Amino acid sequence: MLKLMSDVISNKSEDGVLTLSFNRPAKMNALTREMYGALASGLNEAAGDFSIRAVIITSEGDHFTAGNDIKDFMEHPPTSDDTEVAKFLASLLNFPKPLVAAVKGNAVGVGTTMLLHCDVVLASPSANFSMPFTSLGLVPEAGSSYLFPLLVGYQRAARIFMTGESFNADEAKEMGLVTTIDSDVLEAAKKVASQIAQQPPQAIINTKALLKASKHDAVEAVMKAEFQLFAMALQSEEAMMAFMNFMSKKGK
Ligand code: COA
Repeated sequence: MLKLMSDVISNKSEDGVLTLSFNRPAKMNALTREMYGALASGLNEAAGDFSIRAVIITSEGDHFTAGNDIKDFMEHPPTSDDTEVAKFLASLLNFPKPLVAAVKGNAVGVGTTMLLHCDVVLASPSANFSMPFTSLGLVPEAGSSYLFPLLVGYQRAARIFMTGESFNADEAKEMGLVTTIDSDVLEAAKKVASQIAQQPPQAIINTKALLKASKHDAVEAVMKAEFQLFAMALQSEEAMMAFMNFMSKKGK
């Protein structure tokens, strides 16, 4: 098992499936700059490594991720393309091989929006998805303001974004975000990834390119616009109040 860093574990199976696992369970796998950096490197290396046929994104502990680390948001707001989070989002958008997500427990913020880029998403019955950007004084990111309404319809997306309400595994499956619910979600994800890994690799890469082609440039443009608004929002009074509220509740 290769450790990209202690908070992201990377593990390559014999059949060419790389698993990237968030490993900060004490903080509900909230994502730090270092973790985004490790994820971006993991994806970029997997893209260039012929022996890797598919990547699973998953987590240690009971939860997928509580989204961006709020303390990091306050201390190092990502405001340029040169930040780890921007690099991670770019590698996610452009990742040429199949991405399989195995989600359990809470998937907050980017924990849900990153799934919109994955090719197969599996969830445990405990999975709970939320994108509470507005509650934090922020705006949707990772292309979600485009990809989510495309998936679920405008009004449903608007309701979820504007109320910040969460949805469970059954609802996510009904929306089409999740393909499979399984109580051993990682095992189920490994099975799918392994099935994909046994297919002719160039055919898989070309298929993914075709599936993504019609939307790629639009998603990229939306991500740029979102990033600018997000960067401004991060420094707003609304966001500062929300972050301070969270930190004070947690006694930090
Ligand atoms: N950033 C930093 N730390 C976080 C975090 C985040 N996004 N989410 C959770 N944590 C930490 C908590 O501070 C706590 O640490 P502590 O025990 O040292 O205080 C630990 O993870 C467990 O979280 P806790 O809040 O106690 O769990 P809970 O079950 O009561 O609540 C959530 C779960 C997800 C509802 C709650 O943690 C939460 O709202 N987190 C923030 C989610 C968020 O807004 N993310 C950003 C989206 S853009």
